[in-house]
Amino acid sequence: MLQIAVLISGGGSNLQCLIDTMKDSGEKEFSICTVISDREASGLKRAEKAGIETHLVDRKIGRPKLSEEINRILSGKADYIILAGFLSILEESFIEQWMGKIINIHPSLLPDFGGKGMYGMHVHEAVIQAGAEVSGCTVHFVDKGIDTGEIINQMSISVDRSWDAVRLQKEVLKLEHKLLPQTVHLLCEKGINL
Ligand code: GRF
Repeated sequence: MLQIAVLISGGGSNLQCLIDTMKDSGEKEFSICTVISDREASGLKRAEKAGIETHLVDRKIGRPKLSEEINRILSGKADYIILAGFLSILEESFIEQWMGKIINIHPSLLPDFGGKGMYGMHVHEAVIQAGAEVSGCTVHFVDKGIDTGEIINQMSISVDRSWDAVRLQKEVLKLEHKLLPQTVHLLCEKGINL
């Protein structure tokens, strides 16, 4: 059974989906071994409620120490690390050490609307501003760039002309809640390599 660590910074609705999937499947495929947040995040409560070990590693300690501390917590414990709304950038040495084992979910169809500054509502605002007819979400391996790693899985949605960024975010989040558990299932069933 795969041991998965989930890193968050916010509400953790994607984390909740993984918790529900894990419980529904009787923890046969994977187990969430730990949840780490880089700030006080309400998502930590979701993990605590599910009886999962949690850690708060404050991003204010700086990137090197943050990466070091996360590595210390995860070493020998996690097979995969899922970034589910985790906003800090980790050290290159950390990424190298865990290459092929870190997965991120991004709320657009990468490579479009990814990169520096493209997180949260900024992504959806940019999609609306560009007049894109299609958007969606992407699960990808994390490499040393921002949102540049190899794409594993995507889901798309038509953007209705009447939608604003808030509505688009809501619709894409619904898709994310399907895409992430589906991808973790793929990972458990078939194994996915870089
Ligand atoms: C999601 O839109 C995810 O794609 C992005 O951050 C958001 C996290 O949402 N990376 P939540 O905390 O899982 O609700």
